[in-house]
Amino acid sequence: MSACFITATGTDIGKTYVASGLIRHWRAAGRPVEALKPVATGFDPASAEASDAGVLLAALGRPVTPAEIDRISPWRYAAPLSPDMAAQRESRSIDFDALATFSQAAIAGNKGMLLIEGIGGIMVPLDNRHTVLDWMVVLNIPLLLVTGSYLGSLSDTLTALDVLTRRGLTVKAVVVNETPGSQVAIESTIETIKRFARAIPIVEMRRMAAPTFRPLAERLES
Ligand SMILES: Nc1ncnc2c1ncn2[C@@H]1O[C@H](COP(=O)(O)OP(=O)(O)OP(=O)(O)O)[C@@H](O)[C@H]1O
Ligand SMILES: [Mg+2]
Repeated sequence: MSACFITATGTDIGKTYVASGLIRHWRAAGRPVEALKPVATGFDPASAEASDAGVLLAALGRPVTPAEIDRISPWRYAAPLSPDMAAQRESRSIDFDALATFSQAAIAGNKGMLLIEGIGGIMVPLDNRHTVLDWMVVLNIPLLLVTGSYLGSLSDTLTALDVLTRRGLTVKAVVVNETPGSQVAIESTIETIKRFARAIPIVEMRRMAAPTFRPLAERLES
């Protein structure tokens, strides 16, 4: 597998965290890796390092310059809203076909591992007609679904898996990323998801200082 789309049950769940960990793992293993965050909202050039593109570039070992940001994250908007709304605030709109073409060209030209981070959850609107789900369907590459151990994540995760598989997409793995302060034990979350989604590998991600991304990386390499 060489390209993977990273989606989640919602915003702030850990897509960039997981992508950065994988990038660092593959770089340390001497494997070529590239990452894109094609659509970003809440982008502030004054704190570009803290943006998703900035974090991904740092993991890639590249400088956080305007040119590099432009290269990996061309559709950027200031308002911290869904992409359709954030674009509208600037009297702009996302050209879905251009987004699809940009992503497909990156997949076609990719020589190592390519991670494409989505935005928000699986059905965030990109324009008046398309959501992230339509984008994933057009690309038709394997997915990584990141979820949490928050109360409500079971329904969010199973709903997401149902929709993704109905649309013919392949979920390579589900990452259950521990939600800080949650009353729900991560073990119980994993056990329950496994019961309902037997065929899909579940990878546990704890909050710790130096987590290993090897098990997840190996899932994606297979
Ligand atoms: N396992 C973890 N351990 C420590 N910190 C984490 C972990 N997972 C996520 N975080 C932190 O939680 C915050 C939210 O995670 P992240 O930015 O990866 O979410 P996201 O799904 O990419 O959000 P967005 O929808 O804004 O793109 C970040 O500050 C990230 O560093
Ligand atoms: Mg992110």
